[in-house]
Amino acid sequence: MTAQELKEKFISFFVKKRHKKLPNVSLVPENDPTALFINSGMHPLVPYLLGEPHPLGKRLVSNQRCLRTQDIDEVRNMMHLTFFEMLGNWSLGDYWKKEAIEWSWEFLIKELRLEPKRISVTCFAGDKDTPKDEEAAKVWQKIGIPKQRIYFLGKKDNWWAVGETGPCGPDTEMFYDTGKKKCGPKCRPGDNCGKYFEMWNDVFMEFDRLPNGKLEKLKQQNIDTGMGVERTTAMLQGKDDVYQTELFTSITQTIEKISGKKYQGKNKKSMRIIADHLRAASFAIGDGVMSSNVEAGYIVRRLIRRAVRYGRPLQINKPFLAKIAEEIIDQYSGEYFHLKKNKSKIIRELSAEEERFNKSLERGLREIEKYKVLNGKSAFYLYETYGFPLEMTQEIAQERGQKIKKGVFEKEFKKHQELSKKGVETKFAGGLADHSEEVTKLHTTTHLLHQALRDVLGDHVQQVGSNITPKRLRFDFTHPEKLTEAQMKKVEKIMNEKIKANLLVKIKTMTLAEAKKKGALAFFGEKYSDKVKVYMIGGYSQEVCGGPHVKSTKEIGRVKIIKEKAVGAGRRRIYAQLAHGS
Ligand code: ALA
Repeated sequence: MTAQELKEKFISFFVKKRHKKLPNVSLVPENDPTALFINSGMHPLVPYLLGEPHPLGKRLVSNQRCLRTQDIDEVRNMMHLTFFEMLGNWSLGDYWKKEAIEWSWEFLIKELRLEPKRISVTCFAGDKDTPKDEEAAKVWQKIGIPKQRIYFLGKKDNWWAVGETGPCGPDTEMFYDTGKKKCGPKCRPGDNCGKYFEMWNDVFMEFDRLPNGKLEKLKQQNIDTGMGVERTTAMLQGKDDVYQTELFTSITQTIEKISGKKYQGKNKKSMRIIADHLRAASFAIGDGVMSSNVEAGYIVRRLIRRAVRYGRPLQINKPFLAKIAEEIIDQYSGEYFHLKKNKSKIIRELSAEEERFNKSLERGLREIEKYKVLNGKSAFYLYETYGFPLEMTQEIAQERGQKIKKGVFEKEFKKHQELSKKGVETKFAGGLADHSEEVTKLHTTTHLLHQALRDVLGDHVQQVGSNITPKRLRFDFTHPEKLTEAQMKKVEKIMNEKIKANLLVKIKTMTLAEAKKKGALAFFGEKYSDKVKVYMIGGYSQEVCGGPHVKSTKEIGRVKIIKEKAVGAGRRRIYAQLAHGS
């Protein structure tokens, strides 16, 4: 079965079970300042898992592009990917464990035609906060899985959460016996020894992790499932290496051609890293993330640079990213129209970063000449400053008859990793699903700002980005020139008048066509599915949005514009805050 067939089968199976298909949305999370990339199929659904009604209803299915970068620097195994597609089905307070498990089973047996005898499952063993999941285990037993193939495991294996805070819950995972030998008497699903292959995860999402660490029951019991397309395809084709499926063969062949080396032995690792990282970087750039030194842009930079670096062991001595990216983009442009549309931009960005990095490596080589001794510490400095891979510095040291202690390098590396991890954790501390009062108020304020800007500057003003933290809103829009002081004052004045007028905020579900006909603002065309939610603020503003919003504008208090600046040609950015006290 090809990946394409798997995707089609999955979607149509759940559509037959009355699920609505969701659009495959951008890797850049909307209105979520706490995460850099969409990490799972459920990620764009957080507000709905928390209880907002979804315009498409309570049963949803999707294939969603995802990017996970927790451990970019770790060696990839044969199944590990940074970028992947995830199939999933959801119940938003509709069906619960019984149907979710029964349908998973039906799909595995009837559609994928897997052998029932080779399937085993894991369920949550329980802890001090949440009881053992007997309910899920009973459903599995009733289906016909004998007790000895139902394993109860702890939080590490059978609990899923989108981030430090937000929706979460116990899960049940399904595994397929690959027929390999047991790794020992304790061999079990989830031990990653290669015998049991993890196919699918059904999460019973009924909790919300609060910022203080406590678990609270959600308003509704949700089902959230996830099946990785690439890995499941590999399994269905009897391969234990995703890179040997049709999803990667043309990419590895291109690398083989460029390098004149085969995908075998120690070349494998380099080729895998190049293939995986360039897929991730191409998709991220396609979704508008350019390589930079901060946040998501920094991830893109690291992905690209790591790909370039791994060209060296393959003795590729000329720029090579463009050719491979072209292959990736062509392969996916049937399903991802935006990739095709942005092809030349993606290739330009990759090549520019490749050139910058190659220059940096050259500077590093000159710097190295000045070093009398190369050791673990200086190797880390070279890695940090010029992006020198340890292996390269080691080689140079060897030529000089010096030795680099790997341990010292690794210690420095760990220190650095912990620091950057801390950065990420602080980022998550705000919570993925920040529905705090402040954030809610700023959501509504964003709509007011959008309309006020159109009133003052004209209808050419379109939202091109929005980002909200509990402290401020940031709004990007199209406008050719700097706003004058008078224009800013006017926009601010209109917003505060609308707030004072205490306009009611109402919400209506309609088709996108209806919304547009009514004049509602909607500037993310391709992201929306057929039914959308329109928020109406009095008669003043109408905008397609996921919410949440205040009930009436007086709740907002007062708003103040704090900064206005350019962000690229023809684009402006405004920062605004709620004014407290005055
Ligand atoms: N959200 C769950 C996962 O990513 C299904 O595994």
